[in-house]
Amino acid sequence: MDSPFPHYPVNDFGPLMKGIAIGVLGIVHVFLAQFAIGGGMLMCYFQWLGQTGREPLARKFTDGFFKFVVLVSFVLGAVTGVGMWFATIQVSARTIGTMVGEFHWLWAVEWTFFSLEITAGYCFYRYGTKLPDRERMTLLVIYAAASWFSLFWINGILSWQLTPGDFYETGNMWDGFFNPSFFPSVIFRTVTSMGIAALAACLVVNLMPEMDREQRNTLIHRAAYFLTPALAMPLLGVWYFWAIPADSRSWTLGGNVPMMMFFVLAIVCSMFIAVYALFGLIRARLYINGMTASLLVSLALLATAFAEFVREGVRKPYTLRGYLYSNSITEDEVARLREVGCTTDDPYPLRAADRYPNEQVAKGALVYRNLCSVCHTPDAANGLTHVTGTWTVSQRRMNIAKLQRTKPFMPPFAGTPDELEALVQWIGWINSGRPETWPESNDPETLREIQQWLDEVGTKSGLELLAEEGAH
Ligand code: HEC
Repeated sequence: MDSPFPHYPVNDFGPLMKGIAIGVLGIVHVFLAQFAIGGGMLMCYFQWLGQTGREPLARKFTDGFFKFVVLVSFVLGAVTGVGMWFATIQVSARTIGTMVGEFHWLWAVEWTFFSLEITAGYCFYRYGTKLPDRERMTLLVIYAAASWFSLFWINGILSWQLTPGDFYETGNMWDGFFNPSFFPSVIFRTVTSMGIAALAACLVVNLMPEMDREQRNTLIHRAAYFLTPALAMPLLGVWYFWAIPADSRSWTLGGNVPMMMFFVLAIVCSMFIAVYALFGLIRARLYINGMTASLLVSLALLATAFAEFVREGVRKPYTLRGYLYSNSITEDEVARLREVGCTTDDPYPLRAADRYPNEQVAKGALVYRNLCSVCHTPDAANGLTHVTGTWTVSQRRMNIAKLQRTKPFMPPFAGTPDELEALVQWIGWINSGRPETWPESNDPETLREIQQWLDEVGTKSGLELLAEEGAH
């Protein structure tokens, strides 16, 4: 029998939900990367201010700020970037594998730009202070352009995950790359990058020695102009929203409470920054001290965190919309897995296999690992025993059999009735405090009932079922 789906070894992050592990790393990485992109543009602007004689302090700022960019974004940005690869292959090797498989040339192009960015950056770091203006500008423009283009390339691949466009019909790489949310998201991220760089500049100016308050104030107000494009963010946000699937949109508009909360928080944080920037910095020409600057940078990090959380969250139940579910099973494989089972030829052993009281419970643990562990822990973050805690055994069976109906942002159950019963027993066993003995459940009537529920709900995704109901 050929394997019904490819198994990969997945790591268990203990009480930490896998999505949270990736999320935290991803948010830090995105924030730093966007800071580097906006930072590149900001330095070009200051270099221009300096070499055209518009701002005598500009050169000093550029050199000080650059050290900060190098330290923060080259070191931390690069480390978290590698960390992202490392974490994502442990959580969803199949998602990453598919993305690399479909877009390897684009990844290679992205990497080329990244190398160029690093090279130009290090040249400036090493020789910047000794070079004449013209060469300084050339290096900075190369640095800024290369880092923006690495956003351009990666943005196409990441936005494709949620809005594949015509890709699956045409199989054309460019249809996937220039997908419906490509432009709104690349422009939105460019504007965000500029804003983050401006706020970071306010912080750096305060850290620079040998400058009086008047000088600091001058530099801060130059940098603040980089916040003005952020005024377009509401419009860009609406554009982005309009480009993503209607069901994804509906999660943030009340369909899912945590999602909506994070969405609102992202907007509130961004608005605080925008209001302060517009009225405080630009109109009232207020001075920003180090404390306020740190606060604004932290708010920007929070806004990024909430927004990225929502962007990742609304893709559920997919990692690759319309093709691959978050638990690494494709839409097309579900029907077959219901017949042959998802644990049948899983080659990877269970960790500490001898702690399970019987084979059925051990099998349940395998079913959990294959189908649920990407979004749930047993009894910690989004713990399965918590979300099913108040249900009777029969309710557990039914709601899990009809998983995509229970919550349309979960994939359909992709295993046999026997596996489902094992999962339910495993949940019950954990709920009872993992006792040493546990009775096997082997009533054929139960299995028949589960089969009937599975047949009733079918193998389509919850989103499709919702859309069909909407159409009636
Ligand atoms: C794509 C991610 C994802 C996968 C895969 C997933 N779930 Fe969920 N599940 C969630 C989220 C998110 C919630 C909602 C938690 C909340 O509302 O607070 C949830 C909620 C639940 C609930 C509670 C539903 C309710 O109405 O209160 C149950 C039961 C559940 N999941 C069981 C499972 C089982 C069993 C599996 C594996 C067969 C599974 N889930 C796979 C994301 C997922």
